[in-house]
Amino acid sequence: MSKSRYQAPRGTRDILPEEAGRWRWALDSFAELAERFGYGQVISPMFEDLGVFLRLGENTDVVTKEMFTFQDKDPKTPQDLALRPELTASICRAFAQHRPITPWKVWYAGPQFRYEKPQAGRFRQFVQVGAEIIGENDPAADAEIISLAWRFYESLGLKHITLQMNSLGDAETRGVYNQELHSYLSSKAESLSANSRDTLEKNPLRVLDSKREEDLEIIRAAPTIQEFLTTEDANHFELVCEELNSVGIPFVLSPRLVRGLDYYTRTTFEFTADKLQTAQNAVGGGGRYDGLIEELGGPPTQGIGFALGIDRILLACEAEELDLGPIKPLDAFVVDLTGGSQATQITDELRANGLGVDRSFGNRSIKAQMKVADRSEALFAIIVGDDELEKNEVTLRDLRGDGSQERIPRTSLVAALIASIEGRYSE
Ligand code: HAM
Repeated sequence: MSKSRYQAPRGTRDILPEEAGRWRWALDSFAELAERFGYGQVISPMFEDLGVFLRLGENTDVVTKEMFTFQDKDPKTPQDLALRPELTASICRAFAQHRPITPWKVWYAGPQFRYEKPQAGRFRQFVQVGAEIIGENDPAADAEIISLAWRFYESLGLKHITLQMNSLGDAETRGVYNQELHSYLSSKAESLSANSRDTLEKNPLRVLDSKREEDLEIIRAAPTIQEFLTTEDANHFELVCEELNSVGIPFVLSPRLVRGLDYYTRTTFEFTADKLQTAQNAVGGGGRYDGLIEELGGPPTQGIGFALGIDRILLACEAEELDLGPIKPLDAFVVDLTGGSQATQITDELRANGLGVDRSFGNRSIKAQMKVADRSEALFAIIVGDDELEKNEVTLRDLRGDGSQERIPRTSLVAALIASIEGRYSE
């Protein structure tokens, strides 16, 4: 096959029907679960004023390297806009704009855009599902958010997910810790990788995220933020852990866990899929961001949430060999040998009765139509030839079983087909 002139842009891809069923299954499962937890959906714009996203951190890759930006076309209202790289900032912007009653419990799903170097499990357009609780400081809220994510992985059948937990304290604590970390890492700068030396000057915390061999030993011996937490923050974290224990959600404490975005305070967490390669094994993450809404012009309001990457979750499902989103086959395929208008009427009637039905077009031969019927994987074929039409009957042929067929009155087709399908599923 020759290569077509246009391809999906680098870092993006088409999800074709064979795969799209799994996506719908995962997304529907999340929507159903989040609603059951008492969260309402928010559908926000895919682009926002660039300023909304600058709050993610002036030294984060997401802001400095990965934003898809463009200008409003109207010269009278020049505005820098950006495709959303994540949804927490948009949710906080929406909260500051609409001022709903708190706690505001919301969920979302949709594509995000980051200009990253594409590789397995890392895309420039990827889909996240997520949830946020705005305006609640209770550690039980942290535990509920984490358990929503955990129960979602469980509902898909994933068994090899690790939850890593940490607390980053408040902005003040982080400031002090940053300085300590900076001086510790500076004292070892000569042995650090060139990349980490560079990161150290911009954002010492991010050095802890390095996976480079030469950095690991130094990182292992680095001071942890736990030593700097205020009693209040340490208590909050302990209560979150107790709550998780009380509902049987396992986790590991990762005192050096840092996140790629800068707005986090207190509880932070990440979910990794043990069956994926480390470069793409983060299947979700989140935490508290108690200062973000104020920075976006809202009243001082706490928040906590998570986002999970569906692209990677589906890779993890494959790696665990899970049966992904069973696709229901079509109930019937109509083969019309009398010109096509019988197929139009029969498909319409059957679909109105809730059945899954397809047909072919173009008045093709019986052989050609039966081939398409077979390929459609429908359970039954409904065949209408001249003889059937004259006697006001149809032929119902079993396509998946023994291939048997029977003539039935056209008027009892719906009932007969439903009975045959039920018979098929009870076999
Ligand atoms: P994040 O860690 O940047 O957090 O992204 C969350 C998840 O999105 C990652 O764990 C990963 O599964 C997926 N993801 C991120 N980038 C890519 C990519 N290039 N390709 C494929 N998947 C990707 C956030 O976005 C925060 N908004 C989470 C949050 C919500 N924090 C508080 N509330």
